[in-house]
Amino acid sequence: MDAPIPAQKAPYNFTVEEGKRYFWCACGRSGSQPFCDGSHKGTGLTPLAYLAEKTEEVWFCGCKATGGKPFCDGTHNTL
Ligand code: FES
Ligand code: FES
Repeated sequence: MDAPIPAQKAPYNFTVEEGKRYFWCACGRSGSQPFCDGSHKGTGLTPLAYLAEKTEEVWFCGCKATGGKPFCDGTHNTL
C-alpha cells in the first residue's frame, strides 16, 4: 500500500449539506480536493465516506495526516 501524500498542508473549508454523503480523498492524489476522484486506484488506499448529519461549515483535512479523519485536527502544523 502506498502512503498518503499531502494535497496541501492546510485544510479545505467546505459547507456540507445535511443528509448528503461525501467521499473524502484519503490518498492525496485527487484532482478534486478534498474529495475522491478515483485517482487512488492502484495505491491500495480508499476514500472515507462521511455522511453529514447537518448543514454546516467544516474543515476537511488537506494534508491527509490528521488523526481525526476526515477533518483537520491541526496535524498539518507539524509537517
Ligand atoms: Fe484519493 Fe480517491 S482519489 S482516495
Ligand atoms: Fe491535515 Fe490540518 S490539513 S490536519
